[in-house]
Amino acid sequence: MHSKEESIGVFDSGVGGISVLRELLKCMPQEKYLYFGDSANAPYGNKTTQQVRQLTMEAVQHLMAQGIKALVVACNTATAAAIKELRETYPNTIIVGIEPALKVASDHFPTGRVGIMATEVTLREEKLAHQLERFPRLQTQRIPAPGLVELIERGKGDSAETQVLLETILAPYAGKLDALVLGCTHYPFVKETIGSILGESTLLLDGGEGTARQTQRCLAEAGLLREGTGSVTIQNSLNDPEILQLSHQLLRK
Ligand code: DGL
Repeated sequence: MHSKEESIGVFDSGVGGISVLRELLKCMPQEKYLYFGDSANAPYGNKTTQQVRQLTMEAVQHLMAQGIKALVVACNTATAAAIKELRETYPNTIIVGIEPALKVASDHFPTGRVGIMATEVTLREEKLAHQLERFPRLQTQRIPAPGLVELIERGKGDSAETQVLLETILAPYAGKLDALVLGCTHYPFVKETIGSILGESTLLLDGGEGTARQTQRCLAEAGLLREGTGSVTIQNSLNDPEILQLSHQLLRK
């Protein structure tokens, strides 16, 4: 049995999930959050599915051992590789996994040209193919972004290096997309640069807000919403105070 007073565990391969934690805090400021970033093993996005699954199971075990009433998988890559196994392993805990915001894209542009920018794992996993089958009228384009997560993990999201990398990846799509789905939780931290390259006619979407609302719905249904003053605890597998500093900085961004 879970209690209202337990924390909501939030997991990502690194600092990306902080973009989801931001949305969770907007939606439910009265909750206690326990965030764990596995920066020692990031990026997950170019590993094998089996490796991502194993790292995810280990990281989640660390969160579960501290007593959490719900788990938010704030990592599209981990959701794609391991959500099924997580739900089988922890059937009595609410588990919400972030997914690329294709439904929102389709609601805005039912037959639109939609780019999906995500990690290699997310782009190749069956989960995305299944999700896409639900929106056959969308004209989708998969856009990998190798190297981007590494820059954001190193606190270089606002650097010239990131600007150049994003221009290389996205310039061919400038003015050609109705929407770009940011299918990795690290990407909202470089949203402004992405927007400046693609132009105002492209709507940028991410799954953070939807994931927060879904978590709120599940907790409400289970009678597990907390009252009072909330709190945030951030942990990271990397034994380095700088990564915690970066995490708190991104939370305020
Ligand atoms: N933030 C993760 C996601 O949402 C992936 C980053 C990584 O490659 O580790 O997909």
